[in-house]
Amino acid sequence: MPEPLLSVRDFSVVYDVDPPVEAVKNVTLELQRGEILGLAGESGCGKTTLAYGVQRLLRVPAVITSGSVTFHDSSGTAIDVNSLGAEEMRRFRWNKVSMVFQGAMNALNPVTTIGAQLDDVFLVHRPELSRRERRSACEELLEIVAVGRDRTRSYPHELSGGMRQRVMIAMALALRPQLMVMDEPTTALDVLVQREILRKISQLRHEFGFSVIFITHDLPLLLEISDRIAVMRDGTIIELASAREIWERPQHEYTKTLLASFPRLTGERGVLVR
Ligand SMILES: Nc1ncnc2c1ncn2[C@@H]1O[C@H](COP(=O)(O)OP(=O)(O)O)[C@@H](O)[C@H]1O
Ligand SMILES: [Mg+2]
Repeated sequence: MPEPLLSVRDFSVVYDVDPPVEAVKNVTLELQRGEILGLAGESGCGKTTLAYGVQRLLRVPAVITSGSVTFHDSSGTAIDVNSLGAEEMRRFRWNKVSMVFQGAMNALNPVTTIGAQLDDVFLVHRPELSRRERRSACEELLEIVAVGRDRTRSYPHELSGGMRQRVMIAMALALRPQLMVMDEPTTALDVLVQREILRKISQLRHEFGFSVIFITHDLPLLLEISDRIAVMRDGTIIELASAREIWERPQHEYTKTLLASFPRLTGERGVLVR
């Protein structure tokens, strides 16, 4: 029996502007432990709002107008994400769920080394670690994402876009969360670099057993990494099926359009990395 990690029930978000924007409408979905769930859909369909919503990252004017989000912790506790207090929320993020934000690789601090920025995560969340322990944890992380442990002293501008994105993944991985949410993590990168990063995420998922919600407007890319794919349109999930089902038997015309909209480098769209 697959074990759920995250249950989203009847979840709705409205941006309280004039006129109000119903960005997420009655979304229900269950993410399994260890699963990579792809979330696809055109720009503006509500992907980021949904991803923020399940981690309580939404800010005004966003209002959650219905639904619940339950995180089934590895300890056996069911956490009602919407009812967490501020301090519990702080621990929940990074420790249980971490996020690679859209455009994150450009959000690294340009005047601080990669090592110092990784070190900050441990300083804040693992204050019990010694300086030396933190240092070796940072080096280990950079090795895991194939940036290399000798890169701690590099500044962001000394790394390629793909390398910077790996650093962001290392950061998200730092506290060994059970869920990583990645919002368009490879969008700005060229196709070959994208594929290398997908392979890495796939491999790390097997190694560490975390689940991934992988968001992109590029549906064919999701075929390569996802176990299941949710297709979102205008705030709702119109189709949710295994990557194979989506590839072989897409149910909606809209899904077919999305599948056709991105030519792959190789010409064959459904090459599975796994
Ligand atoms: N802060 C905001 N205020 C008002 N509307 C917003 C805000 N953020 C997003 N939206 C609207 O909500 C809808 C969903 O946006 P978003 O979740 O960013 O979509 P996606 O990530 O799929 O591109 C869009 O119509 C967008 O314009
Ligand atoms: Mg977005």
